[in-house]
Amino acid sequence: MTILQDYMDKHQGSAQKYQEALGQFPSGVTHDNRYASPFPLYVTHGEGALKWDVDGNEYVDYVMGHGALLLGHSHPDVVKAVAEQMARGTHLGANTEQEVRWADSIKALMPYVEKMRFHSSGTEATLMAFRLARAFTGKTKIIKLQDHFHGWHDYAMAGSDRGAPGIPASAWESMIILPAGDLGAVQRALESDNDIAALVLEPTGAHFGQLPLDLPDYLLGVRELTAKHGVLLIMDEVVTGFRIHPGGVQTLYEVQPDLTTLAKVAAGGLPGGAVAGRAEIVDMMAFTGDAAHDSVNRVYHPGTFNANPLSAAAGYTALELVAQGNINGNANAMADRLKTGMNSILSKNEVAGHAHGIASIVQLVMADCDCDRGICTMPHSEIKQAVAAPRVTALKRSLQNNGVDIMGRSAFLVSGVHTEAQIDRTLESFERALGEMRAEDAI
Ligand SMILES: Cc1ncc(COP(=O)(O)O)c(C=O)c1O
Repeated sequence: MTILQDYMDKHQGSAQKYQEALGQFPSGVTHDNRYASPFPLYVTHGEGALKWDVDGNEYVDYVMGHGALLLGHSHPDVVKAVAEQMARGTHLGANTEQEVRWADSIKALMPYVEKMRFHSSGTEATLMAFRLARAFTGKTKIIKLQDHFHGWHDYAMAGSDRGAPGIPASAWESMIILPAGDLGAVQRALESDNDIAALVLEPTGAHFGQLPLDLPDYLLGVRELTAKHGVLLIMDEVVTGFRIHPGGVQTLYEVQPDLTTLAKVAAGGLPGGAVAGRAEIVDMMAFTGDAAHDSVNRVYHPGTFNANPLSAAAGYTALELVAQGNINGNANAMADRLKTGMNSILSKNEVAGHAHGIASIVQLVMADCDCDRGICTMPHSEIKQAVAAPRVTALKRSLQNNGVDIMGRSAFLVSGVHTEAQIDRTLESFERALGEMRAEDAI
């Protein structure tokens, strides 16, 4: 039996749902990352670190709500807080106590954050961060690092390997794409162009550390260079915030950004985002009472679901748990167990590959490397090649056949509620998957 045949046999209910969905959605999916051949999985529910599909198959989940679920699926405290809020109202058409508590819970964990505004997604947060940076500095251009992901608005998509149908060329004219990890390139760009408002980056490297940056040196270097040139540093902590460290990468390495973008864990598993940072920049959105200023120079910020009370309740409940408990410690320990186990299985079975990553994110690369398994030193071009290989698709499918679902094709996002038994079960599935791949000459 091939891996593909096994997939089709075990997931007939998903295949059927997919046929229905093809009539509703382009390619049957509602997020590009959920597209899969011959069909994607349809999942009914989750609890803790587990989830179940329409065929009744159980998975140890490492997608974890695209990284949003540091507390696992349906954490009882979050469920209770959201249910109570639901009964009090889902949109009160007004400011709420909940949004103030939500902001407090963010500030309690991220000492560099002075003020913020809430949005409904990470994409909105980076869009607003770029706008604020441009408004505050009076400059136009934003430096973005190659392969770094900041959502799907026109500016964030600049430098994408994909085509850009529908995006006006003028949007990308205000974006400068630099190779990630090259401080010399940043220095040259800043010295040769005085119309740069900000530099934005994913602080552990593209795709939450799949293409790692040399930490903390690169961040410290970028901070120094941007400060010297009066250019703002935007740390996109949409994935890393509250996960890599309760206070995010900025707190772990004590690198103060001017602006931070947040979403995912920040909203406790519900839709939500925020732009946060230095008060004088975020206050570009403030009403001053000066009518001329407020109508012409103020940064405009509407949004029906900004700080909606359900997301606020989920957000502060999750973040207060992060602040009190050992959520991060457990997630990191389980990720470490997973990473160490995968590395020893790869070497025991003489399969080219290694797992690397920091905190609760494990990145698998099906190619050998002599890094210390923390911050991988393999050239980014080689990692990109390895993670795009067909054997990686076979591995993902085989893992799904064996009850494990991973983020994209090679990332394991571990929560604070994964258990040792679930990690060990994952390792057994991983070894079985490698065996199945070998049986069909995929490795
Ligand atoms: C680093 C980063 N920034 C921004 C975004 C966009 O967030 P959202 O999907 O909530 O729009 C993502 C999404 O994965 C992300 O990983």
